Amino acid sequence: MEYVTLSNGVKMPKLGFGVFLMNEPGEAEQAVTNALKTGYRLIDTASRYYNEEEVGAALKKSSIPREELFITTKLWFKDAGYENTKRAFEVSLEKLGLDYLDLYLIHQPFNDYYGSWRAMEELYKEGKIRAIGVSNFYPDRLKDLVMHNEIAPMIDQRETHPMNQQWEAEEWMKQDGVQLEAWSPLGRGNKEIFTNSILMKIADNHQKSVAQIILRWFMQRNIVTIPKASHVERMQENFDIFDFVLSHEEMELIKGLDQKTSIGGVLHNDPKMLDVLSQFE
Ligand SMILES: NC(=O)c1ccc[n+]([C@@H]2O[C@H](COP(=O)([O-])OP(=O)(O)OC[C@H]3O[C@@H](n4cnc5c(N)ncnc54)[C@H](OP(=O)(O)O)[C@@H]3O)[C@@H](O)[C@H]2O)c1
Repeated sequence: MEYVTLSNGVKMPKLGFGVFLMNEPGEAEQAVTNALKTGYRLIDTASRYYNEEEVGAALKKSSIPREELFITTKLWFKDAGYENTKRAFEVSLEKLGLDYLDLYLIHQPFNDYYGSWRAMEELYKEGKIRAIGVSNFYPDRLKDLVMHNEIAPMIDQRETHPMNQQWEAEEWMKQDGVQLEAWSPLGRGNKEIFTNSILMKIADNHQKSVAQIILRWFMQRNIVTIPKASHVERMQENFDIFDFVLSHEEMELIKGLDQKTSIGGVLHNDPKMLDVLSQFE
């Protein structure tokens, strides 16, 4: 495994496992059990993935020491605000069966996230969370949060993949010591990405799959990422990326694929996004 060191000195695995859309009974528990067996130690869930309990059940069953795990969950925007965040945090912790979290993220830059941040700063200082951060914060919202609070987020989790590379956002993050973490690193299995001739050629060069090339590219960019895979073979394939290195030329070829666009049109600076998200409890 490769690691990044966050601004507060916490070591975080660069490759983790995401459990979004794992909602069939038993699905997330089985997937996390398989992921831990494969070697993943970073697990990324959220209160609104509705599977924290199953993630917790898998963690409890495993014999992996707690300090080797890195568990992330996220605060839903309807739970924003100082008091609500403290409550939501306790609920998540209980569902996960943990007594501290490794990373707690504000899921979206909506509602009273300033109140949330103050609550998270306190929980962090009390030692209940090892690192605090945000998700889907664009540079303007991130800068504003940094400038008007005591503690800067250690992470900003954003949609990042070869079609949406986030170079500019990452530059802003670096100025404030914020680490970029990539969601949907494989573009949700998007066909355009998986059949891209440049990625297929690079995969051929290394006798690896397109998914492995993309994930290796994240490692070499020093970006944390959390691919999701229901299929065990894919989970294992995605973990098998530490025995080869992309050349500078290959890294540049992938850089040339950037279209700066979200694959699913998930834009957190579009007012319509609030209408979409408000439909969910
Ligand atoms: N903060 C946020 O707002 C936010 C938003 C979205 C996601 N996330 C996080 O990011 C994680 C990953 O993102 P994601 O789930 O949207 O998408 P993703 O990881 O980019 O892609 C997952 C899709 O790719 C397929 N896949 C995985 N490995 C593959 C391989 N080696 N070859 C071919 N196909 C492969 C999976 O198939 P199978 O599952 O069928 O095996 C699944 O359909 C989520 O699980 C979640 O933890 C966060």
